[in-house]
Amino acid sequence: MSKAVRVHKVGGPEVLTYEDVEVAAPGPGEVRIRQHAVGLNFIDVYFRTGLYKAPGLPFIAGNEASGEVVAVGSGVTNFHPGDRVAYYFNLGGYASERVIPADKLVKLPDHITYEQGAVLMLKGLTVWYLLHKTFKVEQGHRVLIHAAAGGIGLLACQWARALGAHVIGTVGSKAKADLALANGCDHVILYNEENFVERVKQISRGELCDVVYDGVGKTTFPGSLSCLRPRGLFVSFGNASGPVPPFALAELNNHGSLFATRPKLNDYVGTRRELLEGADTLFAAVINGKLHVPINHAYALKDAAKAHADLESRATTGAAILRP
Ligand SMILES: NC(=O)c1ccc[n+]([C@@H]2O[C@H](COP(=O)([O-])OP(=O)(O)OC[C@H]3O[C@@H](n4cnc5c(N)ncnc54)[C@H](OP(=O)(O)O)[C@@H]3O)[C@@H](O)[C@H]2O)c1
Repeated sequence: MSKAVRVHKVGGPEVLTYEDVEVAAPGPGEVRIRQHAVGLNFIDVYFRTGLYKAPGLPFIAGNEASGEVVAVGSGVTNFHPGDRVAYYFNLGGYASERVIPADKLVKLPDHITYEQGAVLMLKGLTVWYLLHKTFKVEQGHRVLIHAAAGGIGLLACQWARALGAHVIGTVGSKAKADLALANGCDHVILYNEENFVERVKQISRGELCDVVYDGVGKTTFPGSLSCLRPRGLFVSFGNASGPVPPFALAELNNHGSLFATRPKLNDYVGTRRELLEGADTLFAAVINGKLHVPINHAYALKDAAKAHADLESRATTGAAILRP
């Protein structure tokens, strides 16, 4: 019998229920995989609390994982039993085995471990599109990355630095500051103790940033807008502290003809070509040593509630995995 963590009603971490589940044989175009590692993400918290709506209840939590193909359905020619694979896909991830459409899978190169694969498909691909597609980070750009020691944060800081950017990060503690500095940040701001807008002004000698990557949301808005140079880009990509409140478009004018976007991964890897472009670039960055994958926490899948409590209480740094 396969195991999974299901949500029968939305709520706190205690609603994550570890239980037996039946896994069907793969249908046409589908693949059945035995999972080796599952990525933990803040988006899993949003689905669990109901901030993001699952299609129905109960649902199996989780949006990224890696594993081994154990069976393929009719019409699947590009995957075979024994292949090492990873994916990003809406829900169903917190499981020991699952069935998934084959076109959502990518093959893991030999040099990428299951653990790395499990945290690269949502976090890594998000960092890929944020730095390469939403805004093309280049030599000399000044970027502000909030929650710089988080799962997304540590990858984003490393990659932005490798692209030649000057990286300013915000973090919630001194220990996180040290970690962010070791992972690509040129400057770190303790945003719970310091006024981050004033510190960005000082650090940049008044020139401010070309782009702000904000996955924190409510508590960093509208400060993030004040950190941008005229015509800079505000990238609001998450809500760790709560959603950004509705605001008037005129605010963008007031802060200097700013641009703003609220992107999501689905819209950047919606086609097979885009998914493979992102995964190839990402895996190459890891294999070439440009990107180190900081997996700082591992939990048994049955302890998913503890993992969620740690993530929400800001006790984690970098990436975390669940082991089925
Ligand atoms: N749009 C997309 O395509 C996309 C895809 C993936 C993830 N995301 C977003 O990216 C963000 C980061 O995701 P992640 O999984 O890597 O999480 P994470 O950054 O590892 O964890 C969230 C961090 O946010 C900070 N934070 C600030 N205020 C908080 C609060 N009130 N409660 C909890 N944390 C708070 C904490 O860092 P400090 O202690 O340093 O403040 C915390 O460690 C999330 O908002 C997520 O939704 C968006």
